[in-house]
Amino acid sequence: MSTQASGRARFEELRTEALACTRCRLREQRTQVVFGMGDPAADLMFVGEGPGAEEDRQGLPFVGRSGKLLDRLMAEEMGLDRTSAYIANVVKCRPPQNRDPRPDEISACRPYLEEQIELIDPAVVVTLGNFSSKLLLDTTTGITKLRGRAYDWNGRVLVPTLHPAAVLRGGGDAMALVRADLVRAKAACSGGVVDLVESASVARNASR
Ligand code: URA
Repeated sequence: MSTQASGRARFEELRTEALACTRCRLREQRTQVVFGMGDPAADLMFVGEGPGAEEDRQGLPFVGRSGKLLDRLMAEEMGLDRTSAYIANVVKCRPPQNRDPRPDEISACRPYLEEQIELIDPAVVVTLGNFSSKLLLDTTTGITKLRGRAYDWNGRVLVPTLHPAAVLRGGGDAMALVRADLVRAKAACSGGVVDLVESASVARNASR
């Protein structure tokens, strides 16, 4: 089997494993596991927080109001639709009542996300909101401080931005910030020049 074919086979195996996952309490109230969607060989990956009610119903990420906004901003700022990227979340099952995912749930689910990233092997990862940005950059610094730059992250470019739900709450100013971040991500995707911050320095500076 070629490396590409074995990677694809492993990706399907990983999905099958995740769909039957019982690693944390989120299994109890989920309707279904939301593994991710899009092109598993995409150069661009988005990572959100966790499924909401609509995602839990459909088994697909970002299909509710936040997702509609993400689709719109992706189209307007990057000229892309979701089929040309891959979209996943930090936790694959809906936290009840849309509460925040808990640290043990994030830890239990983390290997799925890490292997998704490894197998998809995107050049650019856009983290949406606090949970994915802090997890992948390994920092306690919040998204409003992290965003606005691109990070050199394990040989990839990581662009943190606000979660679309925060844009829905925050209006025009938040929207403008996300637009600017997506323009940054687009430039990184096309090999354009973006100033990269070393991701390790974020963790070092977290408490400053
Ligand atoms: N919010 C997320 O973080 N992920 C989804 O899939 C939907 C809403």
